[in-house]
Amino acid sequence: MEKKTFYITTPIYYPSGNAHIGHSYCTVASDAIARYKRLQGYDVMFLTGTDEHGQKIEQKAAAEGVTPKEYVDKIVANFKNLWKLMNISNDRFIRTTDDYHVKAVQKIFRALYEKGDIYKGKYEGWYCTPCESFWTETQLKDGKCPDCGREVKWDEEEAYFFRLSNYADRLLKLYEDQPDFIQPESRKHEMINFIKQGLDDLCVSRSSFSWGIPVDFDQKHVVYVWLDALTNYITAMGYGSDDESDYKKYWPADVHFVGKEIVRFHTIIWPAMLMALDLPLPKQVYGHGWLLFGDGTKMSKSKGNVVDPGVLCSRYGVDAIRYFLLREIPFGADGVFTNEALINRINSDLANDLGNLLSRTTAMAQKYFGGKIPAQHEAEPLDEELITMASTLRDRCDKAIDGYQFSSALTEIWKLIARTNKYIDETMPWALGKDETKRERLAAVLYNLCESLRIISILLTPFMPDTAPKIQAQIGAPAETLTYQAAGTWGLLPADAEIVKGETLFPRIDVDKEIEELNALIVTKPAAPEKKKIEGLAQIGIDDFSKVELRVAQVTACEPIKRAKKLLKLTLDDGEGERTVASGIAKWYKPEDLVGRHIILVANLKPAVLCGVESQGMILAADAGEDDVRVIFADDVPAGSRVH
Ligand code: MSP
Repeated sequence: MEKKTFYITTPIYYPSGNAHIGHSYCTVASDAIARYKRLQGYDVMFLTGTDEHGQKIEQKAAAEGVTPKEYVDKIVANFKNLWKLMNISNDRFIRTTDDYHVKAVQKIFRALYEKGDIYKGKYEGWYCTPCESFWTETQLKDGKCPDCGREVKWDEEEAYFFRLSNYADRLLKLYEDQPDFIQPESRKHEMINFIKQGLDDLCVSRSSFSWGIPVDFDQKHVVYVWLDALTNYITAMGYGSDDESDYKKYWPADVHFVGKEIVRFHTIIWPAMLMALDLPLPKQVYGHGWLLFGDGTKMSKSKGNVVDPGVLCSRYGVDAIRYFLLREIPFGADGVFTNEALINRINSDLANDLGNLLSRTTAMAQKYFGGKIPAQHEAEPLDEELITMASTLRDRCDKAIDGYQFSSALTEIWKLIARTNKYIDETMPWALGKDETKRERLAAVLYNLCESLRIISILLTPFMPDTAPKIQAQIGAPAETLTYQAAGTWGLLPADAEIVKGETLFPRIDVDKEIEELNALIVTKPAAPEKKKIEGLAQIGIDDFSKVELRVAQVTACEPIKRAKKLLKLTLDDGEGERTVASGIAKWYKPEDLVGRHIILVANLKPAVLCGVESQGMILAADAGEDDVRVIFADDVPAGSRVH
C-alpha cells in the first residue's frame, strides 16, 4: 500500500547574514515534525531553503565589493553547515537562484499576466527597504514601517500589479470553510481584520534594482521578491518543470511553518496567487512566535544581538539546544532566550532527570545481574501505574504533535521520566539486592525501568536524534523494539538484551562559571587589544606566499594530549580526508570549544612528531593580547575551500 504523504516547509531564509538561533527555532521545530511523521510511517517531504533575491542583498553585496551571487553563496553555505550540525533532516533545500526555480517563476508570472490577474500600472507608495514592502499612508505606524518600525521612503515606479483586491471575499470564505487554515486562532483574527480594512492590488515587480528574477517578457522589471519566494513551495516540487511528479505527489503542503510577522504573506498573498493559478491551497499555515532576548526585543541580524547556534551546539551538544528550543516555549507564543534558562534546563531536565534515570538503571543492571536481567519476574501491583503510563505515552505525544505542541509532547515524556525515577525510590532496588529471596522482584523492577526507557527513547527520537540511539544502545534494545508500533506496546525488550553502562548523556554544568564564560563569548565583543607596533619580517614575493597551501578544515574531534599540557590533538576534515594536527592552544581552548568549528589549516607543512603525536599541519591563530591566543575561525566557509 502507498504510504500517506506529509509535506512540511520552513520559510526560506534571507541569506543577508549568518543563521542565528531564531532561524534554528523554526527549522528545528519543522525537523521534529518531519521526524515524528516518518516514525509514524508517513512518506515525508521536508523542505527548507534560502530566499536570495532583493534590494537588500544587492546593497549588502555592493558594500562588500562582491557580486550578489558571491555574497549569498557564502551565507548559504553557513546555513547548510548549521542545518547539518543541528541534525536537520530536510529532504530538499531550495535556493531561489536555482535555475529550475527561476524558470518556473517566470512561467508563473507570465501565466498570471496572460490570465489578466497581473497587469501593468504605476506604483507610488512608502517603501521599507529592509522589509521589501510598500505601504500606504494609513498603514504606516507613526510614519514608519508597521512591521519593523524603521524609516520608509516615498517611491514611484512603473510596475506590474497582482489583482489581490479581487480575492478578498474568497479569502474570507476560505478561513470560514477551512477553520484550521490559519493557526493559532489569534492570528486568524488579525488576518480577517486586515482583509476587512480593504485589500489593495499588490505591486509584484520592481525596476529600481536588478538582483531578482527578470520578467521574461519585459526585462526592465524583476519579479517582486515575495512572489518569487512564496512559489518556492511548489517549484521545489517540480511545478512548472518537465517533471511534475513530486508536485503531484506532495502538493498541497500539509503545513507551512512561518514566523508570526510573515503570516500575512502566507495566508493572504500566497492563497490568492494559488487561487489565480487554479491550484490547490496548502492545508495549514502555522504562525509561531519569536525567540526574544531577555530585554524583550526580537533577536535579529540588523540589531546585532544574535546568538550563534553553532557556538551553543558545540558547547552543550546539538540535542540540548534542540530540546531547549522545543521545550521552553509553547509553539505559537513568544519566548525569552537566556543563557541561564538554557543551562538550568540542561542541568535539571537532561542531566538530572533523564541522564540519572539511564545511569542508575544501567549501573544497577550491571551490578546485580552483570548486564543481563533474568527472565523470571515477580510483578507487584505498584508496577501497574508505571506500565499504563508508559504504554499510553505514545497517544499523548501523538495528540500534542497533531496540534504542533512540542512543549506539551516533551512535558508528557518528562512526566514518565519523573514517574520512572520515583519508581526507583519506591521499589528501592538496592534493598532488594541485599536479599537473595527477592531476585525475581529485583529482575522485574530493573526490567520495568529498561522498558520505560525504551518507550521514552523511541518518542524522544524526533526531538533528540543523537541522544535516543545512545539510550537504546545502553539498554540493548534491538531495532524491532524501537518502531512507532513498539512505542505503544509494553514488554518487548527481550530477556537476553545486554545492558551496558555507557557515557554520561549530559554532564552537569557549573552554572555560575558557565554563564560568565558564555556571556563573555556570545554577547560582548572581546576588548580590542592595545595596539602594539609589529616587528616586521622581510618582504616576500607572491611566489613565496603561494607556496603555502591554506585550506579551510572542520574540527571533527579534539582531545588533550596526556604528555603535553599545552597541546590539543585535533582531528580535521580538510575536504579530502582526515588528518591530525597538534596545536599549542590548550591554555585558551577546551576541546568542546573547537569541535564542529571551521579553522584555517596550513595544509602543506611537513609533518612533525610532537609529544608522540604526528602533526600533519598547523592551524592559524592570532596573538590577540598579552597572553591571549585566538584561533581564526571560518565557520561559514565549507571544509576543503582554498584560502588565498
Ligand atoms: N525570506 C522571508 C521568508 C520567505 S518564505 C516564502 C523571511 N526571511 S527571514 O530570514 O527574515 O525570516 C525567516 C523566518 O525566520 C521567519 O519565519 C522569521 O519569523 C524567523 N525568525 C527570524 N528571527 C526570529 C526569532 N528571533 N525568533 C523566531 N523566529 C524568527 O522572512
